[in-house]
Amino acid sequence: MANRYIFQIALLLCITTALAESYTLDQSQQKSSILVCQDLLNQLNGSATDCLKQRMNSKIPEEIKNPQLLQKEDLVLVTYELFQQIFGIFSRNFSRTSWNETIVEKLLMELYQQKNQLKTTVEEIIKETNDIWGNKHILNLKKYYFSLMRYLKANKYSSCAWIIIKTEIIRNFVYLDKLISYFSN
Ligand SMILES: *[C@@H]1O[C@H](CO)[C@@H](O)[C@H](O)[C@H]1NC(C)=O
Ligand SMILES: *[C@@H]1O[C@H](CO)[C@@H](O)[C@H](O)[C@H]1NC(C)=O
Ligand SMILES: *[C@@H]1O[C@H](CO)[C@@H](O)[C@H](O)[C@H]1NC(C)=O
Repeated sequence: MANRYIFQIALLLCITTALAESYTLDQSQQKSSILVCQDLLNQLNGSATDCLKQRMNSKIPEEIKNPQLLQKEDLVLVTYELFQQIFGIFSRNFSRTSWNETIVEKLLMELYQQKNQLKTTVEEIIKETNDIWGNKHILNLKKYYFSLMRYLKANKYSSCAWIIIKTEIIRNFVYLDKLISYFSN
């Protein structure tokens, strides 16, 4: 009995180690991509100080601000989800802003590429852990981004609503940068 238990633990450790080693994520490439995204977002004009009357109460899940609390698998899944959801947001209608479409397209392209680069690793993790739908960090993120989209919709995609969301997403990238720093720890 005891032996079998130890064997299972050993097996689990092997799988975990194998997974961790297969995460050959290009950290520096991702970090430079984050800089590109931040730069593009900053080129979308409009300052949140012009929109002080607008409020948005949604808050990014706490664990995203504390990557040290996340397991390596979760770091990858969460990073993928962030790229995916931010892509989803900026695919929405921003015609009421004065934003330059070319800049938004560049941003979408950058997000898509990053998302795509993580895809294989994410699929491996899902196959190994078999609990993507039960992953509470991902669920928390989905709820958070759903509330951002609901906010945009409720405000009829107004310029101010978009500016508030843009400011929120710029902050998201600061957290994302911190998350990616943890890949190598
Ligand atoms: C944003 O930039 C566009 C042109 O790039 C300009 O027409 C518009 O007035 C600017 N809006 C603000 C709020 O600065
Ligand atoms: C985007 O919104 C504008 C103005 O609110 C509307 O005229 C346009 O049809 C919308 N575009 C799409 C693709 O929904
Ligand atoms: C939009 O951005 C592109 C790329 O930065 C630039 O070449 C173009 O002149 C801009 N268009 C407007 C209307 O500002």
